[in-house]
Amino acid sequence: MQTIDCIKTRRSIRKFTDEPVDHATLEKIVDAASFSPSWKNTQIVRYIVVEDPALKARIAKECTTGFTYNAGTMESAPVIVALTVIKGRCGYERDGSFTTSRKDTWQMFDAGIAAQTFCLAAHEFGLGTVIMGIFDDTLSDVLEIPADRELVNLICIGHPAEAPEVPKRKAVADLLSYR
Ligand SMILES: Cc1cc2nc3c(=O)[nH]c(=O)nc-3n(C[C@H](O)[C@H](O)[C@H](O)COP(=O)(O)O)c2cc1C
Repeated sequence: MQTIDCIKTRRSIRKFTDEPVDHATLEKIVDAASFSPSWKNTQIVRYIVVEDPALKARIAKECTTGFTYNAGTMESAPVIVALTVIKGRCGYERDGSFTTSRKDTWQMFDAGIAAQTFCLAAHEFGLGTVIMGIFDDTLSDVLEIPADRELVNLICIGHPAEAPEVPKRKAVADLLSYR
């Protein structure tokens, strides 16, 4: 797939078939995402694949802040990926001080780049994804995220069972200005 086609035809997918996602494909996707740019090449993003049906069901039941829309997507997805970052590196100097006044917010920036690269690579391999930002704080404990890491977002992934319309995009003229 051409890059621009991949960017423009990727959609958030919230309904999946029962077909499992094989580990080889997940590893190719993470390999592609590992080529994302990162703060001083710190590469702080780590992925936790949740494929155990009981754990997935528990997350859908207990960790969606009552937002049943996300619970339904999680139940449909064969795999939920938790995107985490290693804290204390991105945005920092070697002596532990912040490099810029934006402090460690750069770690969210790096996580976002990695998440989009992950989703585009999945699309290239015929899989659908949806990034999720709405989940309960208790999820970090449920997934036993180590203390040196932060859970940033979830990505449901699987074989698409829907082909949503493109949500309306803003016109370039509204997005772009020149100085
Ligand atoms: C940071 C972030 C958080 C999101 N959280 C959710 C979510 O909790 N549930 C959901 O169904 N979609 C979520 N989305 C997906 C957006 O709704 C979706 O990207 C947007 O509607 C545009 O649709 P498209 O991805 O098909 O282009 C999230 C996307 C981003 C970038």
